[in-house]
Amino acid sequence: MTVLVTGGAGYIGSHAVLALLEAGYSVLALDNLATSSRESLRRVERLAGRQLTFIEGDIRDRQLLDKLFAEHTIEAVLHFAGLKAVGESVAEPLAYYANNVGGSVTLFQAMADAGVHRLVFSSSATVYGEPESMPLSESAPTARASNPYGQSKLVVEEVLKDLARADARWSIALLRYFNPVGAHPSGEIGEDPQGPPNNLMPYIAQVAVGKREQLTVFGADYATRDGTGVRDYIHVVDLVEGHLRALEVLENCTGAHVWNLGTGRGYSVLEMVAAFEAISGKRVPYTLQARRKGDVAECWADPTKARKELDWQARCGLEEMMADTWRWQSKNPNGY
Ligand code: NAD
Ligand code: UD1
Repeated sequence: MTVLVTGGAGYIGSHAVLALLEAGYSVLALDNLATSSRESLRRVERLAGRQLTFIEGDIRDRQLLDKLFAEHTIEAVLHFAGLKAVGESVAEPLAYYANNVGGSVTLFQAMADAGVHRLVFSSSATVYGEPESMPLSESAPTARASNPYGQSKLVVEEVLKDLARADARWSIALLRYFNPVGAHPSGEIGEDPQGPPNNLMPYIAQVAVGKREQLTVFGADYATRDGTGVRDYIHVVDLVEGHLRALEVLENCTGAHVWNLGTGRGYSVLEMVAAFEAISGKRVPYTLQARRKGDVAECWADPTKARKELDWQARCGLEEMMADTWRWQSKNPNGY
């Protein structure tokens, strides 16, 4: 079975391509390399001992999409392609809506015309906005996001729900990721942000490896156990396993289905720093600073629905997340 993976060269996409190849799928990876490197997929091929087909191109290029669907018997699409820098999305909303919403709609149109109706979409816990209570189950209300990036995820979810209502042939998974971290245990592929990382885990790793001086902890006055923000960090290998399970489950059902992909456990920023120091043996100096605009105090998943319906649950604990992040970062101090 052939799967089209958009954004396949990126952090999560490359891990998904590897898992698909290992599970016996044929993979077409489409990526414009806007925020990633061609090298990730070369390494994926080496790790898998199998070839994939890489297409350098854009999901907004309708002609290219039509050609891909005409030339290959694609049965399903894993759609990771998108821009994800929250601050940049505030400064450049049009770029984010054009890429994440416009690009997605173009992709769905090409799929519809080609008769391909099975889709797994990368959504985010950001669609829950400022949550009222924890943990977050899929029935918690969604809310307008505080930034265009988050809003683009919410809009695409709504587009896909409308699509499933309009045409019963669609089988769609809306996977709401909590906080993906970690790397493949080989240390060969991992997260390679361009410029200063926006997210906590790659920032900690770059401080530990000596690329950055210290971590800025955004807010130490939240109503949490140590005052710093609490999140549900999930190992990327567990996360992509959830995609493979969703792909299988979609084979036998239609409609749009929402599943949280999280562990159900929250850790604070300072707990993450301490756990990373313990595993890596490196010090991660930090300063406590003001809260970052748009951040919530805490956010963790109720993963029950995915456990019941996908027969999936996260297996890796914090130690593996830290050890695998450190292996990737120390073997590749400057990324790919
Ligand atoms: P990433 O930036 O590493 O990967 C995204 C990939 O999409 C990149 O390789 C990029 O070059 C490609 N891309 C972007 N625009 C494209 C376009 N128009 N056409 C073709 N390719 C394009 O990010 P990631 O962390 O792997 O995230 C993958 C998906 O998961 C994104 O949609 C992201 O919003 C979503 N997500 C990520 C997180 C996270 O914390 N990493 C959390 C929730 C949701
Ligand atoms: C952020 C985005 C979210 C996006 C997700 C994945 C915001 C408001 N939210 O989630 O929309 O889906 O990334 O890309 O940006 N922290 C620090 N110092 C740092 C970085 C982070 O203290 O240098 C703290 C944050 O305040 C937070 C925690 O670490 O408490 C996790 O932050 P981060 O990794 O950026 O993820 P989220 O904010 O949960």
